[in-house]
Amino acid sequence: TEYDLVITNGVCVTASDIAAFDIGIRGEKIALLAPSGSLAKASTKKLIDAEGGYVMPGGVDCHVHLQEPSMFGKGSSADTFETGTRSAIAGGTTTLVAFAPQQRHEPSLITALDAAHSLARDNCYCDYGFHLLVGNASEEALSEVAKLPERGVTSLKIYMTYEALQLRDHEILSVLAEARQNKVLTMIHAENGDVLTWLTERLEKRGLVAPRYHAHSRPQLLEDEATNRAIALAELVAQTPILLVHISDSGATKRIREAQTRGQPVFAETCPQYLFLTREEHLDAPHGFEAAKHVCSPPPRDKAAQAVIWTGLRNGTFSVLSSDHCPFNFDDDVTGKKTCISEEFPVGRFRHIPNGLPGVETRLPMAFAATDRIDRLPLTKLVEVTSTNAAKLYGLYPKKGALMPGLSDADLVVWYPKEGSPKRPAALDDLTITNSMLHHDVDYTPFEGRRVTNWPRYTVLRGKVVWDRDGEGIVGGKGYGQFVEREAGVLNDIWQRVEEAGPFDEDKL
Ligand code: URP
Ligand code: ZN
Ligand code: ZN
Ligand code: ZN
Repeated sequence: TEYDLVITNGVCVTASDIAAFDIGIRGEKIALLAPSGSLAKASTKKLIDAEGGYVMPGGVDCHVHLQEPSMFGKGSSADTFETGTRSAIAGGTTTLVAFAPQQRHEPSLITALDAAHSLARDNCYCDYGFHLLVGNASEEALSEVAKLPERGVTSLKIYMTYEALQLRDHEILSVLAEARQNKVLTMIHAENGDVLTWLTERLEKRGLVAPRYHAHSRPQLLEDEATNRAIALAELVAQTPILLVHISDSGATKRIREAQTRGQPVFAETCPQYLFLTREEHLDAPHGFEAAKHVCSPPPRDKAAQAVIWTGLRNGTFSVLSSDHCPFNFDDDVTGKKTCISEEFPVGRFRHIPNGLPGVETRLPMAFAATDRIDRLPLTKLVEVTSTNAAKLYGLYPKKGALMPGLSDADLVVWYPKEGSPKRPAALDDLTITNSMLHHDVDYTPFEGRRVTNWPRYTVLRGKVVWDRDGEGIVGGKGYGQFVEREAGVLNDIWQRVEEAGPFDEDKL
């Protein structure tokens, strides 16, 4: 036979085009793009008729926390590499980049990377990579940054908040200088940790400890200030490329836009929680402990900020829409109750609620649902921010995030035909997200009850169908997902300018 898999009758969407064509797949790669219908009778081991539905490069989610130790007490984040990657493929994501967390007490990055590998190896349903999470900018850690690229790791994340992981400004500068020299992208969680610790103490003293006060402890201004500081520090170290993660605030968005306009290599990410949740509806309004389901950092913001985030996603301020999947169960795994609920604190205490939400499976369907509104997300933009840009930014392109014959892995999402098509199953017309339909190992979704308009019908990873919604669901194998070595990123010629500028030199300041 000529092909291993053919997808016919699809409308292919990439970051730049929407066009009907057939896809011929040989082994793990896309072999051919051909006029629509022309491969319907080709000799192939397997044929998928997309019936006019959209076909896109598989989702690339570069912000996923799996099996990470909790910063808020015992235990770790709810999803393992097995359950988190299973959830990913059921939502159309074929590659994710998780974190290899270096703890404060652990001086070595390489030890942290090895530990992450041993958790992930043979346990993943989708392809995966790692960002190094630098929790301790020790001499040893800094010297190891140079070893990361040869291990296929070309990004790291640092925190300007969280007592357990927060780096001081001088440490941030040391990391930026090392990262720059090694073409490693620095992701920054920008919130002013000292100020929010101070605010938390004040709220605690007044007994304002219910989950909704999480938002009071992290006002938007702290994100704005830290974002501005991060941009300034990166500029100081000879324009080191940075990526500001999970941006939620309007002021921070403006700072980023201004830096980009000046030509500084500043990239930014936002997440579904800042597009689909608001402080008013999801933190302020629910009674009692229910608001804990929406405690993440930064917290969901007000409606005005939300509108600015949507605009920033459309106009390119945000290159990527990632999930920041970082789930913790609502009910304690052991006691069945939240440990932070006690007689003294009947609705819990926000400072002890682990921060983070699940969302690796709902990211693409929710973003897809926004494409039916022209003022929200054009289809090509959807592919750009959920797949292609992530692949470019993190050094996976064009192996991932593209449909290039001979070059791209055959990683695809096939959607159901759109509304109005006679081939579309009627059941999709009232498709509502419920936790029971998801494949993560978490006891809630913050998006319960949300209407969506479509869902990945098939997910294909390196030429194999791994998700078949109308068949047996998860049909991929645990362990089929592979570690992908990443190169330096290519988005907007990210490293070009740095190379031209030469090394950082204090003498030139
Ligand atoms: O609340 C969040 N976002 N938790 C995950 C950890 C992080 O800061 O990305
Ligand atoms: Zn973060
Ligand atoms: Zn995160
Ligand atoms: Zn607690």
